[in-house]
Amino acid sequence: PTSELHERAARARNILGDRLFILGHHYQKDEVIRYADVTGDSLQLSQIAGSQTADYILFCGVHFMAETADILTTPEQAVILPDMRAGCSMADMANIDQTERAWQKLQEYFGDTIVPLTYVNSTAAIKAFVGRNGGATVTSSNAAEMVEWALGQKQRMLFLPDQHLGRNTAVKLGIPLEQMAIWDPVKQKLELQCELEDVQVILWKGHCSVHMNFLPKHVEILRDKEPDRNILVHPECTYEVVSISDYAGSTKYIIDMIEASEPGSKWAIGTEMNLVNRLIKDYPDRDIVSLNPYMCPCLTMNRIDLPHLTWALEELVEGRVINRITVDPKTAEEAVMALEKML
Ligand code: 13P
Ligand code: SF4
Repeated sequence: PTSELHERAARARNILGDRLFILGHHYQKDEVIRYADVTGDSLQLSQIAGSQTADYILFCGVHFMAETADILTTPEQAVILPDMRAGCSMADMANIDQTERAWQKLQEYFGDTIVPLTYVNSTAAIKAFVGRNGGATVTSSNAAEMVEWALGQKQRMLFLPDQHLGRNTAVKLGIPLEQMAIWDPVKQKLELQCELEDVQVILWKGHCSVHMNFLPKHVEILRDKEPDRNILVHPECTYEVVSISDYAGSTKYIIDMIEASEPGSKWAIGTEMNLVNRLIKDYPDRDIVSLNPYMCPCLTMNRIDLPHLTWALEELVEGRVINRITVDPKTAEEAVMALEKML
């Protein structure tokens, strides 16, 4: 029974004391987040991971986040992901072989005029690729600053792996849509809307399957029915959705907006279900709904559940480190170059 699992998890957590630190991403389930020593978005969690001294860092989030934590902690500290199946489908949309091939082609087209940027939602190998090619990582909370930085370095940038965050950020900075090309990693082809020399941004053709579930029709239906409801979405939603919403921003931005809003105000939020449900529960005096009435869970984030958490904790109590995430030193060294520019 759940109550017994909670007792076991709490007991194991207590025994481990300050040898253990638990990080919880905002998209995690309530049954898991209650054990987190700190909750945050991916930027906050990677910063916090790097400043911890605990022997064990248990990451309740997805694989790329645990990799980043391993890169930013010491080799003696063990980073643990309670379920190895907790990946990110977006991160998996850019593998290193595809990326190296794309880079070679792009160098043929544009010579040394491109700098790569990668969303932190990418594998350590992609972060390392970006680091050794002079680029940086970005998160949804600093994408605009990082894109401005990149375009201050070189005439154009390659943005991996989320085309939507890349496009929405570039539009925000005034870059015309026609000057954004798309790199299709499957066809290994550049989709152009302008002359080659006018391209400023090359967007990797990746996406988040959760945020793709928010559609323009959801915004239009709500606008029609309830014009006074504020529409607030994550920039992993398509440009078509972001451009007709009232506000768009990172996970932290979404939480801060709700916190700062007036009691009685009405909101429709376009992001992951666990976060939307938590905001509904934490702010009962605001009227909050999901922009997609069916709610959109991130299935891989949800793989971290109470049974897996309890298992990981009890194994640690027995001195066994299960599901340790390690990044090899060479990859880590190059990835750090990309991460440090951002941090
Ligand atoms: P944040 O960078 O806003 O935490 O988002 C992480 C993520 O996976 C969004 O889908
Ligand atoms: Fe990846 Fe999307 Fe899940 Fe975030 S919500 S972890 S981007 S699949």
